[in-house]
Amino acid sequence: MDYIRFDAGEMTLIIACKVGSAPAVAYWGEILDEGSNIDDIRALTERQIVSGGADIIIEPSLAMEVGLGYCAPSGFEAHREGRAWDSHFTVFSAIKYNDSAQIQCRDTETQIELTYDIKVNPKTGLIQFSSSVTNLATGDDHHTILTINKMATAVLPIAGRMTELIGFSGRWADEFRRERIKRFSGSYVRENKRGRTSHDSFPGVILARPNTCEKSGEAYGLHLAWSGNHSVRVDSLMDGRLLASMGALFFPGEIRLKAGETFHSPTIIAGYSNNGLSALSRQYHDHVRQNLIAPAVRERPRPVHYNSWEAVYFDHDIEELKAMADKAAAIGVERFVLDDGWFGSRRSEKSGLGDWVVSDAIYPDGLKPLIDHVTGLGMEMGIWFEPEMVNPDSALYRAHPDWVLHLRAREQLPFRNQYVLDISRQDVADYLFQQIDAVLRDHDIGYVKWDMNRDLNHPGNVQGYARPHAHVLALYALIERIRIAHPTVEIESCASGGGRPDFGILAHTDRVWTSDNNDAIDRQNIQKGASFFLPLNILGSHVGPKKCHITGRTISMAMRAATALMGHMGTELNLLTEPQEDLEELAIAIALYKKHRALIHSGDLYRIDTPQYINAMGIVSRDKSEALYSVAFLTGYHDTHPIMMPFLGLEARYNYKMNAIWPNNSKSTPISVGKEISIDGYYSGTILQNLGMQLPPSFPETVHLLHLKKED
Ligand code: GLA
Repeated sequence: MDYIRFDAGEMTLIIACKVGSAPAVAYWGEILDEGSNIDDIRALTERQIVSGGADIIIEPSLAMEVGLGYCAPSGFEAHREGRAWDSHFTVFSAIKYNDSAQIQCRDTETQIELTYDIKVNPKTGLIQFSSSVTNLATGDDHHTILTINKMATAVLPIAGRMTELIGFSGRWADEFRRERIKRFSGSYVRENKRGRTSHDSFPGVILARPNTCEKSGEAYGLHLAWSGNHSVRVDSLMDGRLLASMGALFFPGEIRLKAGETFHSPTIIAGYSNNGLSALSRQYHDHVRQNLIAPAVRERPRPVHYNSWEAVYFDHDIEELKAMADKAAAIGVERFVLDDGWFGSRRSEKSGLGDWVVSDAIYPDGLKPLIDHVTGLGMEMGIWFEPEMVNPDSALYRAHPDWVLHLRAREQLPFRNQYVLDISRQDVADYLFQQIDAVLRDHDIGYVKWDMNRDLNHPGNVQGYARPHAHVLALYALIERIRIAHPTVEIESCASGGGRPDFGILAHTDRVWTSDNNDAIDRQNIQKGASFFLPLNILGSHVGPKKCHITGRTISMAMRAATALMGHMGTELNLLTEPQEDLEELAIAIALYKKHRALIHSGDLYRIDTPQYINAMGIVSRDKSEALYSVAFLTGYHDTHPIMMPFLGLEARYNYKMNAIWPNNSKSTPISVGKEISIDGYYSGTILQNLGMQLPPSFPETVHLLHLKKED
């Protein structure tokens, strides 16, 4: 077949795949009429030869390999000891089967095979691109080894009218920052070499038109499902073309294929919508909820967490923790997670990582008394691990100093007093599996917080080869081994907060720790940023101490609780020292979360365009019979009144009963200055959507939660 075509969700994708030609995206965008003639695309996009260039037109291909002759940043660079670098792939087989296609390409000169697997979600239109490269050479002498320097999973042409780009940056405790910039000629490039997904370069990018907003307009999204080094590129070329690509990023010599070996690239998840940024996000949310999260977790209400970290840090005392558990159960917590500090000599960041046995000094009778206490209160027990790491001051390191990733005598960069284990070694992976397996087998534990708290700066193995890519694959394999042995245990992906929150790790875990920053004002923004690709049901979101440990800001319980409620809610504060009235208010918020969590976790998300002082979003049930809107006043505002806010996502034909359910009147600080007007009442969906509602004048740091229910 000459073309493969998919029509799904809001998009049509057409890939040219004629045998003997380079594979290329012929069209990707707004859905085309069923009867549209594909040959028209060729005719209408045909380019003229211009002076100063080649005498033929060279079209970009999915691979953009150097041998194509196209003068643009290449998507594929490989060689055999400096030769055979000129690969140029042409199709030899293309098949389509329902929502999937496979395009096989080959270059007989360089003896490399390149295969694309494409899968389209029939409902949302989200596309998964993955690719693999096989070394077709025969023999085992070193001339046959193929070294891949660079490989984008796919290079995708984007409609040139997308003149704006939304990229993701950030840092520890301030993840998922968005930057909306105008495209410029040249390349927007983010290269992540941290060995984990990173806080500062989430592998996502959105291309949009200047008028694209949350509610309307065209947007293309790309995300790389990979938890390691990556490259994100948007190239605005001098021939007017716009190309976007993503792929794993390699250290020198990292990917070397012997004859017959295959390398699999991580998957790009690509979306298109003409209905605004929120509609694009909803495609990604559906994908995570339907395809990534384990069915058992998906179908279960997400329990309210208690996490011990910001309450006690390393200062574990069993009686204090039991008292904390009593308080937690009393306010409605359902899962008690014991964070760092329960094992080996781990009394601070300086020692014990790697020794995954319960500390005799702190828990003389083991963890059982605490776990029995927690489960006796009706809660589930969870526990913290950081399996990939070791402190030099640990029994493990003393026994196996050669197990860490390092390079000869090169001094390691100090980073939280810890080294990274070479988990791609079978003996290391076996050790970690046995240690974690023993803890989970011997105890009634239903949840693991899997942490990862440093970058991989010198990721070499004992032979001196770079291993960050192998590290990620070994990580996925180790987690799967644990999941197979303990299928009911849920796992959270944490990396100093939100340093590993991509779809690659989410295929093996069930929740992400969104950020170490529990400051509710910052969190509003962080959670909003995360929601561009991640659904609320997997975003760990905790009520922290009144005075935030990271920003030093003092924030009301009303604000903290309402912020945590719009995610997978938890608490992470010292319940023994927080004011009683705050705990009472928290208990009310937890009850509210339980009442509405089915909606928050399964509904469709509508972020609302607002001035910066407000962060607003709605979550609307699939049948549009119910919705919950969160309107957070982050700061003050200049006008006498705040904005009229549209309630996006409702059904125009329905009438809704609106109830302001937060702040909780009896317990909260005052929300408005001047005369209070009750918001509660019955309103038509069409007016709520199109006219909206005058928001009540509100103090800074106030969250209004408005619940709407269809009138019967
Ligand atoms: C990381 C995590 C925290 C906590 C600590 C424990 O920073 O993000 O939530 O678990 O490690 O050391």
